Amino acid sequence: YGSKISESDAVWLAGRIGKAYQPDCEGNNTDLDIDNMPSECGFAYRGDFREPTVVTERADGASMSRYLYASHKISEGVFEPAGLPHARRGDKTLYVTLRDGFSDTEIVLYYTVSDDSDVLVRGSVIKNAGKTALKLKKAFSFCTELFAADWKLLKLEGNWVAERSPEITDLGHGVTKIQSLRGASSHQMNPFAALLRDGADEFSGECYGFQLIYSGSWAITAERNNINQLRIQGGVNDFGFCWKLGAGESFHTPQAALCYSSEGMGKLSREYADFIRERIMPPAHAFSTRPIVVNNWEATYFDFNNEKLFAIIDESAKLGIDTFVLDDGWFGVRDSDRSGLGDWVVNEKKLKGGLKAVIDRCKSKGMKFGLWFEPEMISPDSDLYRAHPDYAICKKGTTPVYGRHQLCLDLTRKEVRDCVVEAVSKVLRENEISYVKWDYNRDLADMYSESLPADGMGEFTHRYMLGAYDLFERITSAFLNILFEGCAGGGRRFDAGMLYYFPHIWTSDNADAVERTRIQYGTSYCYPLSAMSCHVSVCPNHQTGRTVSFDTRGAVASLGSTGYELDISKLSEQEKQKVKEQVESYKKIADLVLGGDLYRLCDPFEGDRFCEMIVSKDKTRAYLAGTRTKYLPRRNSSHLRIYGLDENKTYKITETGDVVSGKVLAAAGIPFRELREYESFVYHIEEVKKK
Ligand code: GLA
Repeated sequence: YGSKISESDAVWLAGRIGKAYQPDCEGNNTDLDIDNMPSECGFAYRGDFREPTVVTERADGASMSRYLYASHKISEGVFEPAGLPHARRGDKTLYVTLRDGFSDTEIVLYYTVSDDSDVLVRGSVIKNAGKTALKLKKAFSFCTELFAADWKLLKLEGNWVAERSPEITDLGHGVTKIQSLRGASSHQMNPFAALLRDGADEFSGECYGFQLIYSGSWAITAERNNINQLRIQGGVNDFGFCWKLGAGESFHTPQAALCYSSEGMGKLSREYADFIRERIMPPAHAFSTRPIVVNNWEATYFDFNNEKLFAIIDESAKLGIDTFVLDDGWFGVRDSDRSGLGDWVVNEKKLKGGLKAVIDRCKSKGMKFGLWFEPEMISPDSDLYRAHPDYAICKKGTTPVYGRHQLCLDLTRKEVRDCVVEAVSKVLRENEISYVKWDYNRDLADMYSESLPADGMGEFTHRYMLGAYDLFERITSAFLNILFEGCAGGGRRFDAGMLYYFPHIWTSDNADAVERTRIQYGTSYCYPLSAMSCHVSVCPNHQTGRTVSFDTRGAVASLGSTGYELDISKLSEQEKQKVKEQVESYKKIADLVLGGDLYRLCDPFEGDRFCEMIVSKDKTRAYLAGTRTKYLPRRNSSHLRIYGLDENKTYKITETGDVVSGKVLAAAGIPFRELREYESFVYHIEEVKKK
């Protein structure tokens, strides 16, 4: 698995290195050499001493296995794992069936490839082929092996308000594991890893990407053995995992999207961006122009009434903003984060005339209306909890773990999901709503359901995620015209699984422009710009206290699905004029954000500046935005090289009037303007057609 090779080379490779797939390994004296063989599915207790990919346990307690090739077939199109988000399109899928004589397990590994994509989709179906129940104790989605020791591991670590910072480390001997045990893909570590061959960087060198299409507890491990082979694999986290498989039953793993680039991380990211837009996101919204929203959260928090909201709506409409999103606090009794979740009924004491009054106001100003929900949660102080305390995840007789004073609903139970679907759908049916922000503000704990048998708790965490996917599917497919924005205290659940239902996600609760350069930069390693919800917020910023110019806030927020997160009615006339100009300018580049190719020109984690460029697929247009993230006297290189344009085309930079070839822009670049700290620039670049 790597760069494209000829068929004869593939045949040679299979003969020399592919021994692990061959049944003649079984039973001969070299049994233990299997430990060094590259494998597509590691097995347990039969001579491969590395971590296995799949582990099953039979009723008699035996867990040994050695999966060997049994058969294969190639079919058109994709495989759709039951109840899980997946690649919607693909040219062909190879199915390889593995069996052995004694584990009672049959595994079908599948591989989907497409001529126009460097992303390989992998997953497996694990079947109990015996006559008695099996326990499935580990069920990773993929396993692949690479030779040579010089790989570095890139991961996206983070925290609330500081999501997805790239961290590159050496891979020493032994097992390196990145994971989430939080029931969500997590702020702390994104379900993505890349291997960079020594020397690879943004623009050149070999990189492999491994991305899970999954939003629950996950793990990716990289195991370097003592002859420097590397096994990398991942899937549903196996900590505490145990799935009962009755005779004849199958388990579908989540999918993984693997990607290879010989042109550095930049190319890897562009491949992933295309893959997610074209094959993961809901087709109705993936390439449709996103509304420019104004959200009232940081403008009012819980403290709002009709007058305050109307003032925001009226001013926003004048400035060209098209959708008003009403955030937390509109329902039940919810004046703080201590109550009300689960009671999805408008609070008419707070909003006179209910949602209709706000929606009518939006309509009268030519705007659309969006609404916040946090459907997977319940406040102990809520009517829902008083009626159904058992709906909350909590082991009877114990004090549950609270997060933001709230509990999670037990989505493993169908009646709980039905109740949520009904409550949310009622609001969506009865009101003219074109946008929903779907939040999720805590991690899962107390992994326990009263509805599961005592020996079934090992299924809980994955069953929660299957339940959540069922909710997303039922609600989003019933309201196809609504654009659903994902959110989870900002970026706690920013992954390809969520993007299957929610075409963009609130990237972080930190909307400070300087912090956002880093958060958006890291996020763009494996997700498209259009997946990132990016808003201009107020200064001093509520998270960092930093003050940054309106221009810079607009420039950084323009590199995603843009919007505003402040009280528009309180802006000065000059700032309002800026909003108007930013909205107009964004509309001109919205198609580039949706469908263009991203070139990350300056890394905000290094040095003093951030700069990204989006280029149209035909390379006739580009949009460049940059800022100085800190002032480092005399340590700045004076020029900015512009990679990504067509070297044979001539371009005009609208803002400066310069006319210059793509070749010179890449080789020499443009003078990096004398920006002070936090100042920014945007350039619109267009091809000058030869006469
Ligand atoms: C989370 C979200 C915010 C906002 C609040 C409301 O923190 O990330 O954008 O919606 O919840 O409680």
